[in-house]
Amino acid sequence: MAANEQLAMLVQPDRVHRSVYADPAIFELELERIFGRAWLVLGHESQLPRAGDYFTTRMGREPVVVVRQDSGDIGVLVNRCAHRGSMVCAEGRGNAERFVCPYHGWSYDRSGALKVVPFASGYPQGATSQLRLKPVPRIARYRGFIFASLAADGPDLEEFLGPAKASFDDLVDRAPGGELEIAGGVFKHGYNGNWKLMLENHLDGAHPAYVHASSVAVARNAPEPGRPGEEHYYDIAVRQMRQNGAPDAVWEGTGMWTTPRGHGFMGDYHDDDRLVAGLGNPAFDEYRRLLAQQVGERRADQILRVTLWNTIVYPNCSFMSQFRQLRIIHPVAVDRSVVYTYSFRMKHAPAQMFRDTVAFANVVNGTGSWVLTDDLEVYERIQHGLSSGALDWVYIGRGYGRDVDEADGTRRGATGTSEVFIRAQMRAWLDYMTRDA
Ligand code: FES
Ligand SMILES: [Fe+2]
Repeated sequence: MAANEQLAMLVQPDRVHRSVYADPAIFELELERIFGRAWLVLGHESQLPRAGDYFTTRMGREPVVVVRQDSGDIGVLVNRCAHRGSMVCAEGRGNAERFVCPYHGWSYDRSGALKVVPFASGYPQGATSQLRLKPVPRIARYRGFIFASLAADGPDLEEFLGPAKASFDDLVDRAPGGELEIAGGVFKHGYNGNWKLMLENHLDGAHPAYVHASSVAVARNAPEPGRPGEEHYYDIAVRQMRQNGAPDAVWEGTGMWTTPRGHGFMGDYHDDDRLVAGLGNPAFDEYRRLLAQQVGERRADQILRVTLWNTIVYPNCSFMSQFRQLRIIHPVAVDRSVVYTYSFRMKHAPAQMFRDTVAFANVVNGTGSWVLTDDLEVYERIQHGLSSGALDWVYIGRGYGRDVDEADGTRRGATGTSEVFIRAQMRAWLDYMTRDA
């Protein structure tokens, strides 16, 4: 196994060794030291309104069940039978009084306690009394989002999030009454590439004009989007694709902030007029009125003036508030990743606002979309390229030497296309990977 000194040589200020993306031994170590330590985003409490509601997901490679307890708390249990190891719960979501293992019928209550053991007399007295579904040691929530950590110790959630908390605030504050819910289920897709490639893509303002060139070209020649109130699903696509083809100066002018734990967020990217069923649109006006009813006119203005785009919560999440999308990345192998995508509905907003969310998801986050397909193709090409031993280094030097440390603890790229966010992710990577505990 790689010693810390060897790991340290793989990440340099402006370049990274290809093995960080391609070496299976390093991937195994990442599961243990990054996914086994960091706070991971698991989902949102709207997925579990009633006692016994659960959903299954993964923390790194660990399959887990997230379940609402009778007390109202949220529990996270490793989804692995204490008998001979079968995954106990195979469903994506549901409601259960008991989790019954499909192999020999051991059954566990919502807290993971073992309640029924068939053929119990066959076991030595007391042998099964200590057995249970293993609880994940740390669970915390921020603004309705559920986080957990496989490590018993470490920074608390607020410290972990640091300045990235503001992105969750933005997402939640936009909902009238602060009420959001995951709606429409979860959309899952996989790609044959390393998990880090997705996190390095979502803040990358230098790629859309190239990777997404074909859809930009189609959008440029498309009929003008409908006037406010007369829009079609299609118009969201046209707007978004044209924005992807924005001039270099627009991308250079966006804000790009990072945090010491590898999080990052992009701001100043868009205004509502350019992208959304925006200002002047009757549904948006009604939404704004409902928001102002809750928080007052001034506060509503403040909230809607925030123009954050994607936020990365390192190492497993990417989300954006404007269209209320959240993606969770699951590392499966060094060259295989699975992504879960969720859309949020603002409970007290006009139905059209959620229609736009779904339209955006179809345009950008679907495997048949105008956008995601291009990115997945590039991830796979990168993985192929990095599997080649002909060259050792990946260059992440755009903007290097001009990063600005801000008073609030963030580090900002000199321009919006700076690779500062990848450098921040790699700093965090090295920190997790070389820390002793
Ligand atoms: S493996 Fe679960 S009951 Fe046997
Ligand atoms: Fe892209």
